Amino acid sequence: DKGNYRHFMAKEIHEQPEVIGHTLSRYLDLSKMQTTFTNGTSIDFAPLDRLIISACGTAYYAGLVAKYWFERYARLPVDIDVASEFRYREMPIRKGDMALFISQSGETADTLAGLRYCKSQGIKVAAVVNVPESTIAREADLVFPTIAGREIGVASTKAFTCQLAVLASLAVHAGVQRGHVSADEAAALVRSLAEVPGTVNRALSLEAEVEALAQPLSRARDVLYLGRGTSFPLAMEGALKLKEISYIHAEGYPAGELKHGPIALIDEDVPVIVIAPFDQVFEKTVSNMEEVAARGGKVVLITDEKGAAACGAPTWRTVVVPDVPEFIAPIVFALPVQLLAYHTAVFMGTDVDQPRNLAKSVTVE
Ligand code: M6R
Repeated sequence: DKGNYRHFMAKEIHEQPEVIGHTLSRYLDLSKMQTTFTNGTSIDFAPLDRLIISACGTAYYAGLVAKYWFERYARLPVDIDVASEFRYREMPIRKGDMALFISQSGETADTLAGLRYCKSQGIKVAAVVNVPESTIAREADLVFPTIAGREIGVASTKAFTCQLAVLASLAVHAGVQRGHVSADEAAALVRSLAEVPGTVNRALSLEAEVEALAQPLSRARDVLYLGRGTSFPLAMEGALKLKEISYIHAEGYPAGELKHGPIALIDEDVPVIVIAPFDQVFEKTVSNMEEVAARGGKVVLITDEKGAAACGAPTWRTVVVPDVPEFIAPIVFALPVQLLAYHTAVFMGTDVDQPRNLAKSVTVE
C-alpha cells in the first residue's frame, strides 16, 4: 500500500526517520549512551586483524562508507569489494579476518557466494540484512538486522540508510572494544546517532527545493557526482540512483580524481553534483568545485549550513541540509541525493518503482 504517495519509492524515502529510529533502537542503549550488541548479536572486534566487507550495488556503497568508519574510529583495516568480484578473486583469508556481508534482500546470488567462500575458509561470517528469513541471514554466523520494513521500490533508499545506521553502531562498538574510542567519545558518537531520525526528518523538508532541480537535471545527458571521504560512496550512490530510475548517464567519482580524467567531460551541459558536508576534507572539495566552475561546469552543491557559509567557490545551485556531526553526515546527506534522483525520474515520467531491465533482488549472477 502506497498510502498517500505516488510511488513506493517516495513512501520509502519518507519512512526513513521512523525506520532508522527502529533500527538504531536495536543497537543503542540511550540510558547508558552506549552501543548494545546482545541477544544473538554479540560480537568481539578486539582480536581482529582485518574486516572483509562485500556486497552489491547500494549495499556495497553502505559498506564503503563503513570502511571509513571502521578504519577511523576502530583502527580496524577493512578490505572491501563488490561481491561479483570478491567471489572469484581467490582472496587469501587469514585467521584474524572476519567477513561482513550486506544485503537488503538477503538473496543476492553474488553476495551469498562470497559468504559461502569465506565460510569455506573457516572464518566467522556476519551479515547485515533486511529480510530475517533470507538465505544470507540463515547462513551467516551472526546477523545484524536492519529494521527498514519491506522495501518495494527497486531503487533502494530506506534499506541503505538503515544499513548505515547498523554499520555506524558497529563501528562505535568496535572502537570501544579495540580501545580507540573512550567511554566519553562513545557517548558523544551515540548521541549524534540518536539525533539522526530527527535530522533526517528535517532533511525531508528540502524536498521542494530539490524538486526544483529536476527539470534542469532532466535535460542533462551526463551528470557527474563528486565527493571525498564518506561522501565519495554517496556520490556513487547518487549516480546509481539517478541512472537506475531516470536513465540519465551518471558517474560518481572521488572529487580528487577529477583532474585525473573526468574533468575532460566538463562543459556547461554537464551538471556536477558535489556532496560536501563541512568536514575535514571540505576545503579540498571546494578547490575541485573551483576547477569545475572555471570550465563552465554547473555545480549543484549539497552541503550543510557551515559549508554553505564557508564555501567561496561559485555554485549554480546550493542545497543546504541541517548542520550535523561529521560522523552521521553520510546518513543525512543520503536524503537530498535520493530525492534528487526521485524527482528527476518523476519529472521525466519513467516507471520509478519498476525501472526497465532491473529486478528488486538479483538471485542469479
Ligand atoms: O538485496 P541486496 O541489498 O543484496 O541488493 C543489492 C543490489 O542489487 C541493490 O542494492 C541494487 O543496486 C539496487 N537496485 C540499488 O538501488
